[in-house]
Amino acid sequence: MTLAPTPSSPVMVVSGGAAGIGLASASRWIQSGGRAVLVDRDAGAAERAATTLGDAARGVGADVTSRTAVDTALASVAAVEGRVDALVNCAGIARPAPAATMSDDDLSVLLDIHVTGTLRMCRAAFPLLKASRGRIVNIASVAALAGMPQRLNYTAAKSAIGGLTRTLAVEWAPEGIRTNAVGPGYVRSALTETLKERGELRTEGIEARTALGRFGEPEEIAECVQFLASEASSFVNGHLLMADGGLTIDGNWY
Ligand SMILES: NC(=O)c1ccc[n+]([C@@H]2O[C@H](COP(=O)([O-])OP(=O)(O)OC[C@H]3O[C@@H](n4cnc5c(N)ncnc54)[C@H](O)[C@@H]3O)[C@@H](O)[C@H]2O)c1
Repeated sequence: MTLAPTPSSPVMVVSGGAAGIGLASASRWIQSGGRAVLVDRDAGAAERAATTLGDAARGVGADVTSRTAVDTALASVAAVEGRVDALVNCAGIARPAPAATMSDDDLSVLLDIHVTGTLRMCRAAFPLLKASRGRIVNIASVAALAGMPQRLNYTAAKSAIGGLTRTLAVEWAPEGIRTNAVGPGYVRSALTETLKERGELRTEGIEARTALGRFGEPEEIAECVQFLASEASSFVNGHLLMADGGLTIDGNWY
């Protein structure tokens, strides 16, 4: 049973919240009695997604590559919800390309969305997170730990999210803010569907390489986000929680 939202219900802000892992994380938070603000570059999609979650959700359009848009989105959260208890940085894209011919733009766009975009959201939410002794959950990837052909921009961006997470965990701990990350393996979402359609991801290869033998579901990642965004993880700080079906630890090489 989902509790009716009240002005004192804790608030989760989710970038990339209109779909996939971000939307599932917001839904899980609302199930536990919270309210959620879905921030997405696709304002219409954010508003439609919020409608599916009921009264406890609100959609806000903002591209995380714009400092002005991010600051405006968090100013609206300050004005409307009045608090941020958890910030989930989920906005992201993939743009595979061979390293030898990758353009500067292919790299800088990924870094701008994943790394600087995460920083923009954290910085804008900082006063509200500090006031609530809140939690930050960044979405990394198995790409934070593994070398992946054709994915130099993505692996560089996700590795940097690991460093950003550990540094904020230390720098903002005195402010009462905990910062952690989740590292999903392959999860069914629009992102992976698009890669499949373009022939840039082979389902059988991924399933064979994942110890559990399947893709994950956004709801399974949302459970990890919920743990790190809640007081259940009160002594966890600076951790990268892998949720990858055993992909990164699989030593079955024989
Ligand atoms: N699906 C996977 O297998 C997988 C695995 C590891 C990590 N991840 C990461 O999880 C996160 C969510 O991915 P998903 O699979 O749910 O993808 P998704 O495509 O379903 O959702 C991503 C959302 O982010 C939004 N977005 C993209 N760029 C944005 C920007 N500049 N500003 C604001 N919003 C933006 C999109 O509009 C979309 O709603 C991403 O960071 C992705 O890299 C996904």
